[in-house]
Amino acid sequence: MPSIKGTIRIASDKSISHRALMISSVSHGISRIKNILRSDDCISTMNCLKNLGVEIYEKDGELFVHGTGLKLKKPSSALDAGNSGTTVRLLAGILAGQDFATEIYGDESLSKRPMKRIVDPLERMGANISTQDGYLPIQINGNKLKPINYLSRISSAQVKSCVLLAGMYAKGNTNYTEPEKSRDHTERMLINFGAQITEFENTISIKGEAALHSSDIFVPGDISSAAFFIVAALLLKDSELKIENVGINPTRIGILSVLGRMCGNVIVENKRIVSGEPIADIIVKSSQLKATNIIFREIPMLIDEIPIIAVAATHANGITKITGAGELRVKETDRLKAITTELKKMGADIQELEDGLIIKGPTGLKGATVDSYKDHRIAMSLAVASLVAKGYTEIKDRDCVKISFPDFWELFSKSIK
Ligand code: S3P
Repeated sequence: MPSIKGTIRIASDKSISHRALMISSVSHGISRIKNILRSDDCISTMNCLKNLGVEIYEKDGELFVHGTGLKLKKPSSALDAGNSGTTVRLLAGILAGQDFATEIYGDESLSKRPMKRIVDPLERMGANISTQDGYLPIQINGNKLKPINYLSRISSAQVKSCVLLAGMYAKGNTNYTEPEKSRDHTERMLINFGAQITEFENTISIKGEAALHSSDIFVPGDISSAAFFIVAALLLKDSELKIENVGINPTRIGILSVLGRMCGNVIVENKRIVSGEPIADIIVKSSQLKATNIIFREIPMLIDEIPIIAVAATHANGITKITGAGELRVKETDRLKAITTELKKMGADIQELEDGLIIKGPTGLKGATVDSYKDHRIAMSLAVASLVAKGYTEIKDRDCVKISFPDFWELFSKSIK
């Protein structure tokens, strides 16, 4: 069995990169973004913003964004969000407050993802929107927006961010309440750019009409990308891995709590705050894992890590049960179905629940031909599973990693020996 040793850096944070691009675009002045993620999803956001009249260019490896203030320019054609839910849902909040109409479309996967969740609050704010029965393409006819108090049924950072960004255009306080706290990168970044944001329990308020100033941003490594290497190091014998500069925002580190409960040897050191976000180095050593339960309360903090947690659970002693994760069915693919089907092909004892998974471990996995369903996180989870499987594994459409982690395969083959 191979092992993984040494010090690595992983892909920059996708969520923070999207927000850095969008928020700097609607601020006044030139913002400098260091270490931006150059993945397909973030390139979709960048191209949409360029089409909306924002000047963005690269110099000495850094990105410079000439903010236009809250008002953008009418694009000459419809905007392409590619595979990126974050692009369409966050941008919709900004476009709802413009004085022109825009259409956004996406690829086959994005066209199957629900948009009603953003249309509802935006319409309540006075936006004029039409969709194809709640799916893309979406037409957003910009309007004068009014502030709302919105109580969301789901904990989604994309919906929350959409409402907060629209709230910048509405005179007065827009309040957004969610059942459990979702990732708060938008709030942190808006504060950095001068917006007036207050928080009480799970309610966030933004004061519009906001006037944002430019800022310099450093984008840390993405904990969701680090998760694949963390689990690989835990599962592979004689491994010791240091991952530098990883974002450890408290709303994102559910994976670390879960792996800690599973007796994973994961140490977080050198903690510091950069651009309003906590970052640290993460040290991982091979461990014999034990099973755990994950319930709805924890899900928003590890929403993107469930497929890789499922892989870890195949090697943990006992039964791991994950519930309250129905949102996984409306990601880039139905991730509950995808990970169950593909890990079963590799010999895992895994069962799909309506809103979760049951995994019995430990099981020795075997190599197989498996499908990523063109979903980056499924492809990378299966790559880690292949490391602990006997025999050869072939992953279909493995190139989809470029959605969030363009150098994944290179780093994977370089660091695993
Ligand atoms: C994201 C929020 C999450 C997450 C997605 C990125 C974001 O989606 O799954 O990968 O950047 O806001 P939801 O808000 O739909 O849960």
